Amino acid sequence: MNKIIIASALLALVATSGTALAGGASPEAVEKVVASSWKDPNTKNPEGAKPDWASRLVQDNLQKACSQTRNQPTKDLAEEIVADAKASVKFPEDGKLLGDWKNGEKIAQDGRGQRYNDKVGEPSGGNCYACHQIDKKELAYGTIGPSLAEYGKLRDFKDDAVKATYEKIYNSHSTIACSNMPRFGAQGILTIEQIKDVTALLMDKESPVNK
Ligand code: HEC
Repeated sequence: MNKIIIASALLALVATSGTALAGGASPEAVEKVVASSWKDPNTKNPEGAKPDWASRLVQDNLQKACSQTRNQPTKDLAEEIVADAKASVKFPEDGKLLGDWKNGEKIAQDGRGQRYNDKVGEPSGGNCYACHQIDKKELAYGTIGPSLAEYGKLRDFKDDAVKATYEKIYNSHSTIACSNMPRFGAQGILTIEQIKDVTALLMDKESPVNK
C-alpha cells in the first residue's frame, strides 16, 4: 500500500514539474527543481552536493544564453558566443597540434571521468564514440554528432583543418554558438596533450580513421 502511495506521489511530482516546465516556468522555479534534484548525490555528505558537483549546477553565461533562447540566439549574440569561444582556445606551447593517435583512440573510447565515483583531478576520457562514428572498425557508437570516419582524408589533411579540429574539440562553441558537444578544453575535461591526441586520431594520415 505504502509503495503505491509513494509511487503515485512521485508520479504527481513528475507530472507537475513536467507541466510547469513545458508551460514556461520562471527561472527561479527551474533553479529550485535543479538544485533539489542534486541535493545529495553523495550519501556520505549529508550537507548536499560535493563542491565540484555544486558548481556544475550553476549555468555559465553561454549556457544561460543558449537556454534562454532555446538554442536560437540572435545573429549578434551567436557571433559574440562564437568569438568568446574562439578566444578561449589555448594552443600547445610547442605549436604542434597533432599528438599520438593511438592514445587518441583510447581517449575517444574512454567515458570515465567527472562521475560521482571518479576522483577529482584524475584524467577523464572524451567519450567521443558515445556521439560519433570514428574508426569504422568500432561498431558501437552514437549518432548525436556526425560521423567522423575518414575525417582527415576528407579534408586533405590541410593545416587549417587541423587547427579548426583542435579548436572545435577545445571549445565546440567556437564553430556553432549553441553546440551540443562538450567543451573539452575550456571546461577542463581533457588536457591540451589529450586534445592533441584526439586531433591526431582524426587528422593523422597514419590513423586508422583515415585508412
Ligand atoms: C554529447 C555528444 C558529443 C560528444 C561526447 C562529442 N561530440 Fe563531437 N559533436 C557533437 C555534435 C552534436 C556535433 C555537431 C555540431 C555541434 O553541435 O557542435 C559535433 C561535432 C564534432 C566535430 C565537427 C564535425 C564537422 O563535420 O565539422 C568534431 C571534429 C568533433 N565533434 C569531434 C569530437 C571529438 C574528438 C570528441 C571526443 C573528444 C567528441 N566530438 C565528442 C556531439 C558530441
